[in-house]
Amino acid sequence: MSTGTIKRRIAVIGGDGIGPEVCAEALKVVAAAGVELDTTDFDLGAARYLRDGSVLPDAVLEELRGYDAILLGAVGPPVGDTSIPPGTLERGLLLRLRFALDLYVNLRPFTGVPGSIAEGADFVVIRENTEGTYAGEGGFLRKGTAAEVATQGSVNTRMGVERCVRFAFELAAQRSKRHLTLVHKTNVLTFAGDLWNRTVTEVAHEFPEITWDYNHVDAACIYLVEQPGRYDVIVTDNLFGDILTDLAGAVSGGIGFAASANLNPPRTGPSLFEPVHGAAHDIAGKGIANPLAAIHSAALMLEHLGDRDAAHRILKALSEQSNIMSTTSTAQLSTTAVGDAIAERL
Ligand code: IPM
Ligand code: MN
Repeated sequence: MSTGTIKRRIAVIGGDGIGPEVCAEALKVVAAAGVELDTTDFDLGAARYLRDGSVLPDAVLEELRGYDAILLGAVGPPVGDTSIPPGTLERGLLLRLRFALDLYVNLRPFTGVPGSIAEGADFVVIRENTEGTYAGEGGFLRKGTAAEVATQGSVNTRMGVERCVRFAFELAAQRSKRHLTLVHKTNVLTFAGDLWNRTVTEVAHEFPEITWDYNHVDAACIYLVEQPGRYDVIVTDNLFGDILTDLAGAVSGGIGFAASANLNPPRTGPSLFEPVHGAAHDIAGKGIANPLAAIHSAALMLEHLGDRDAAHRILKALSEQSNIMSTTSTAQLSTTAVGDAIAERL
């Protein structure tokens, strides 16, 4: 309980589409868990960009650094909308926040809900979040001509890989299975893959109690569908992690259940918590968006802020509610009804 203690200052970026709706439910549940937060709304995303052309003003980024954490709903224009060039919000807002705030771990937990392909499985993907093909290395040559060249390199630093790998081992050490799987494509990406493999091999010596293995990313896609229970902690690069976590979400009950924590582990600034899903404009405003991923993300935020008791109570209520929702798919609850149901369980 935070009652009587200093209230955490949380920056809330509801964003676009269903983002604000699901954030509202997440904050409702946090309040019901007895945690009082001091929240400030930030108007960022596609709507803001279309209104005044700003994506993430420098002054706003500096202001965000002063918060204890950031809760983000979703940002992005409707699918097929061409008024915003691809990458404007992704690179200008989401990735800029990840890079500028050094959120080098993207932690994405998965629990297969009853009836899902991954029923009974329980694993976490640790996705490197500041490097790889996302780093922005590359460019065009002879753009627009028949001889055009486009390159997009993958940046992998020993420091960047090692801090992510070490985080993954530390996490595995706290879990019951104590198993780590490196996912990469070392048979083809022989430079980056070699760096990742050597780093894991070396860091593993510091964690003799943890078993570890290696899967090629294509094989991991098969295992995630056919044998997801084999995984405990997966550590992988930025792009493989992006793709694998959509697949992991799909086999675990749907992307509507998938949460993420973009972490700055040494706490040199705020960490950012967001559902894995996007703005889903097609269902925005209809009150049918699944808020479970946002609620789960808020629980990860409380855990990070040290409100462990509230976080665990929310996670328990979430798991009970997910189990019901996965088995009663015919009677779909509204967004607010799901938030209310979880709040009531607390
Ligand atoms: C995610 C998203 C983002 C990513 C996009 C929107 C930039 O897909 O958080 O997984 O690729 O990381
Ligand atoms: Mn993604």
